[in-house]
Formats: sequence, structure tokens, C-alpha cells
Amino acid sequence: MPVKPTETDSDVSAEKPVTIHHGVDELRAYRAGLDGTVALIPTMGALHEGHLQHIRQCRPLADHVIVSIFVNPTQFTQSDDFQAYPRTLEVDIKACAQAGAACVFTPDADGMYPADQVGVEIDVPAVSEVLEGVDRPGHFQGVCRVVTKLLNIVRPDMVSFGRKDYQQLCIIKAVVNDLMMPVRVVEVPTVREADGLAMSSRNRRLDAEQRKRALGLFKALCAAKRLVEEDGETDPQAVEQAMRSVMESHQVRVGYAVVRHPKTLSELSCIEPVLTGGVIALVAGQVGKVRLIDNMLLGGN
Ligand code: PAJ
Repeated sequence: MPVKPTETDSDVSAEKPVTIHHGVDELRAYRAGLDGTVALIPTMGALHEGHLQHIRQCRPLADHVIVSIFVNPTQFTQSDDFQAYPRTLEVDIKACAQAGAACVFTPDADGMYPADQVGVEIDVPAVSEVLEGVDRPGHFQGVCRVVTKLLNIVRPDMVSFGRKDYQQLCIIKAVVNDLMMPVRVVEVPTVREADGLAMSSRNRRLDAEQRKRALGLFKALCAAKRLVEEDGETDPQAVEQAMRSVMESHQVRVGYAVVRHPKTLSELSCIEPVLTGGVIALVAGQVGKVRLIDNMLLGGN
């Protein structure tokens, strides 16, 4: 349903007004009228400092920063999770304005997935079926589909993705490169709390005791980094076992704790120094009912 674009947010007087568009056609028209370069930041809202860092990192790189906020139904494997996903649109829009976004694009599901269209699947099977893909079949296909749609609607010069979701980043880079999409992928380092916990909208579901246990993921990654970079450990299994032990000592139920190739996420028989880009350690664990993920590059230069 086309909605008239709303200009400005009256409560945010110090910043430049942020333009809000709900309709795909309205966004296309707005985009066509922009001079200069455009950065797109795809999000599902419930924004925290980690998301806002994308705006700050892209601002000096592009003339206009567009943030999309869309809780994408096709990437949820359980409809309960989709219904329960936090929606804080008004607060998010203010935060985007304060961080310097020019426009917030908030399409609805009917706009993104018109009922009369034949659906398309985009997949990177080699990377999407492991780790996060094991328990969430179809998740990354949903991500690839919505991101491709967003790129085609906004036609940005650059698009940002966080290293926090490392597997998602690998998959999107593969799609962009293999399909020769004319867009630059900007990688945003993981924003962490003061003690190291990676920022996530799920952290707010942890009580004080769980919050302490959750630090086990970051500590496991730090232990892996020390083992590889200071002790020269080259056996992936030794590093993986060390990460598990740290997680278990924090009463984190281990989903996985692995060391993988940084681009393909394939298993390694040896942590080779020839991999000058380093290797990636990835962990997933459950604290209470909350499932958390994190990762860290080991030995990269
Ligand atoms: P969402 O979880 O809202 O995340 C939006 C972007 O913020 C992603 O690129 C994610 O990696 C990044 N991000 C999340 N936490 C971060 C942190 N602590 N530091 C830095 N960046 C962080 O990821 C999605 O949405 C969706 O799958 C999406 C790509 C929007 C497709 O629907």
C-alpha cells in the first residue's frame, strides 16, 4: 500500500531530518532523486549500538546513508520467533536520525513479497548448510533473497554487513561476487560491551546471572586467539577443545566451537601460517533460553 513519505522527526531537532519511506515505489523515486553515492544498511530493527556503528562507519564513505528496517519473514524457520521478534520502530527511527542516516526504509511484507509473484531462491549451499544453517534450514536462503531485493530496490554503491554474523557476511560476499553485483560490501567490526560480550538484541533477554555466563563465548574466543597467536598451536581440534572447556566452565551449553577457513568456512586439518588472512573461530552457545553466537579472527594480519 503506497504511503505518503513522512518528512522529519520533530523530536530530533539537532540532526538533519530523516526521510521515512514505507513503499517500494516511493523509495525508488526518492533514490532516483539523490545525487552522489548511497550506502545501504540492512537491518531488522530493534537497533543497538552495534547497528548504529554501521551508520557511523558508512557516513564518511557515502553521501547518503539509507537504513532499511524489515523483519523478514522468509529467514525465520519458526513463526513464533518471527512473531516474538522485538519491534521498536519509533525509537529506531530516532536513533538512525541521531547517528546521521538520511533515510529509513520500512517496507511491509506485502510490499516485499507481493502475493501474485513466483518466488525465487538464492543459495550459497557450500556455506549456508553448515553451522547456523544446520538447525535453521532455509534461513540463509531467506537472507539472500531479501538482501538481493533490497539491493535491487535501493541500488546502493555500498552495503554494510557486520562481522558479528560472520557466516551471513561470507554468504552475502559470495552472492555479490559470484552474481557480479555492482556494489561494495563494507564490513563492520563487531561492537562489544565493555567486558567483551558482543552486542546483540538477544542480550536484553539475559538476567544478571546469565549475563555473566554469556561472557563464556568471548572468553573462549580469547583463549583460542592466545593459543594460536602466542603458543603457536596449529591443531584445530586442540583449539576447539579449549574453547569448549571455557564455554562449559561458564555453564554455556555449546552449540559449536570450531576453527574454520575464513572464506569458505570449511574444516581445516591444520591451522597453517600460509593462510595469511588467518582462520576464523566461531562459537554458538545457549544460556538459559537465549542462543548466542560470536567469532574472532585468529592469526590474521
Ligand atoms: P540484524 O540482526 O538486524 O543485523 C543487521 C546488521 O547489523 C547485520 O549486518 C549484523 O551483522 C549487524 N550487527 C548486529 N550486531 C552487531 C554488532 N554487535 N556489531 C556490529 N554489527 C552488528 O542481520 C540481519 O539483521 C538480517 O539477517 C538482514 C541482513 C537485515 C536481512 O534480513
